[in-house]
Amino acid sequence: MATVGLVFFSGTGTTRALADSVRAGVESAGATCHVLEVVGADISEGRWMNDAMAATLDDCDAIIFGTPTYMGGVAGQMKCFLDAMAGRWYSNQWNGKLGAAFTVSSLAAGDKLNALFDLTTFAMQMGMVWVGTGASPSDGLNPNGFYLGVGAQASHAGELQDIDKDTAAHLGKRVVATLSR
Ligand SMILES: Cc1cc2nc3c(=O)[nH]c(=O)nc-3n(C[C@H](O)[C@H](O)[C@H](O)COP(=O)(O)O)c2cc1C
Repeated sequence: MATVGLVFFSGTGTTRALADSVRAGVESAGATCHVLEVVGADISEGRWMNDAMAATLDDCDAIIFGTPTYMGGVAGQMKCFLDAMAGRWYSNQWNGKLGAAFTVSSLAAGDKLNALFDLTTFAMQMGMVWVGTGASPSDGLNPNGFYLGVGAQASHAGELQDIDKDTAAHLGKRVVATLSR
């Protein structure tokens, strides 16, 4: 069975809720989903470390990254995690894995695209093969037209829209469908 790693950071729970939709999509497509949260307790003096979590990701066929958009980019905690994976760049360990991403922010644009660029650039450096959303507003998904990854918009109270949750589930399914091809 294909295995997907879903690695995310969430400050106040909104990205975690979106991750749950991605997980549901992955599992509905018949793959195993390892949900792995980047937490501040794993960061010491700016260095993220959690060997068990990193080893789980090493064994996954695909990795889906999630972060809130903070100040127009990935959250600092997510960046610490990404930087900690630099050793895997040297060993080329993640080359060929599929990659995909989702982000959420308060504003319709909110510079979410830049957070998705951060994650895509990381994945390209790692030699991963990127899977975009592949869905348009005309499909009843992806209302704000983000194609590099899911770009969801949440209220200030952290409520997600159903259409964004559906887009997140669609991405999860699409990653599994791409793996099976
Ligand atoms: C430090 C910080 C920076 C933020 N920067 C942005 C931003 O650049 N654009 C935006 O639209 N929303 C921004 N927001 C709002 C968050 O992206 C939004 O509340 C998101 O849903 C939080 O997700 P989380 O609950 O997973 O942390 C910011 C929030 C915080 C706390």
